[in-house]
Amino acid sequence: MGSEFQETGGPRHVAIIMDGNGRWAQARNRPRLFGHHAGARRVREIVEACPENGVKYLTIFAFSTENWKRTQIEVAGLMSLFRRYIFKEMQEFVRRNVRVRFIGDRVKLDQKLCSLMDEAEELTSHCTGTNLTVALNYGSRDEVARATKRLARDVADGKLRPEDVNEETLPKYLDTRVLPDPDLVIRTSGEARISNFLLWQSAYAEYEFVETLWPDFSAEEFHRLLVSFGSRDRRFGGIKA
Ligand code: FPP
Repeated sequence: MGSEFQETGGPRHVAIIMDGNGRWAQARNRPRLFGHHAGARRVREIVEACPENGVKYLTIFAFSTENWKRTQIEVAGLMSLFRRYIFKEMQEFVRRNVRVRFIGDRVKLDQKLCSLMDEAEELTSHCTGTNLTVALNYGSRDEVARATKRLARDVADGKLRPEDVNEETLPKYLDTRVLPDPDLVIRTSGEARISNFLLWQSAYAEYEFVETLWPDFSAEEFHRLLVSFGSRDRRFGGIKA
């Protein structure tokens, strides 16, 4: 932080629902996975644009708990893309001082992918630049259910008193426990939905729904949205100071 942009009120934490890869591919008469590959290249561009824009935390929705309903070919292709992407980008993240984390339930993910996720988290654990969080097999309701299970266990074990469950203690059980809440949530491709993404965490976030399909979303458009965020009046339920 501390960049000029940050001081002028840009968002510190941006979360993105990267939507529209399938339509982008379809418009080119190509298979959906072609769009996902193009989308992965955009991820790199947006991660690289974070430091100069004062964005310290970037959280991206890569695969939801609902995405398993897609065809077996698409799911397998996406899993293979994630494995390759993490393997290929790991050293680049270290070079760029990017700390990588993953949120979501790993239970349904294959062992090879989980090992790569662990490796990337470990290898970048000393990085102090952008905090990139990739949501993989993530869904807010699933996250809250898993968190509640852990919390209930702590209550049963006498580690937490029911009267101490509140807005401060509950988020400590969420996957995002080490992250600040998002200031800005962007969704591409013209859909105005949040699709089970960071529901608790985004209670006071600003939202931007843009028409651009994710593989066309550029660093320039990202910058424009961040500038526009700086001019918004966030009152968090209060009144203007
Ligand atoms: C939504 O587009 C996109 C996804 C479900 C996958 C997101 C994945 C990437 C951008 C690939 C790379 C990510 C990483 C971290 C390497 P859609 O398929 O729902 O598009 P549609 O709505 O046009 O069908």
